[in-house]
Amino acid sequence: MKACFSLLLSATIAVFGSSISNAQESTKAVCVLEPIAKSGVTGTIVFELVGNHVHVSGKISGLTPGKHGFHIHQFGDLTDGEKGESAGGHFNPHRMAHGAPDARSRHVGDLGNVEANSEGVAVIDQDDKLIKLSGENSIIGRSVVVHANPDTYVQPTGNAGGRVAVGVIGWANPKTK
Ligand code: CU
Ligand code: ZN
Repeated sequence: MKACFSLLLSATIAVFGSSISNAQESTKAVCVLEPIAKSGVTGTIVFELVGNHVHVSGKISGLTPGKHGFHIHQFGDLTDGEKGESAGGHFNPHRMAHGAPDARSRHVGDLGNVEANSEGVAVIDQDDKLIKLSGENSIIGRSVVVHANPDTYVQPTGNAGGRVAVGVIGWANPKTK
C-alpha cells in the first residue's frame, strides 16, 4: 500500500513537473497562417526567444507583390473566416499609439510590414524588442494578421486595409523541425 502510494505520488510529480516546465521554459512559439475569405495566403511564422529579445522568422505565400501590414492582434480567435475581425485590434497592452516597429510609441503588436517578391512570397527575418513569450507583453494565444495593403504608420492602425491571413500563436512542439 505504501509502495503503491509513493508510486502514485511520483507519477503525479512527473505529470505536473513536465507541464510546469512546458509553460515556463519553452522558448519557441509558432503560428500557422490561414487564408481569410479564400485569399490564398498561407504561411508559417516562428517566434523564438534569443537572449532578451524575440526573433521572428518564417515565410508567407500567395500575397500580391509589395508590402503588407504585419501585426500581432489581441485575440487568438479565428471564428470570423470571412473578414478575420474576431482577432480584434492590434495587441496594445500599454495603450500606446500605433507606430513602426522601431518607433518610440507603438503597439506591442506593431511588427511593421512584410514584403512579397514578384512571386508573392515574403520571407521574414527580424528581431523585435517588445513582443515577449511570457508576462504582460506575451503574444501566446494571440494572433498574427497579414493585411491586403502596406502599414503606412498613420493613426489609428496604419491604414493597411483588409485582412488576408490570420493564425493563432501557440507553443511550438520541440520535436517539430
Ligand atoms: Cu493588423
Ligand atoms: Zn498598431
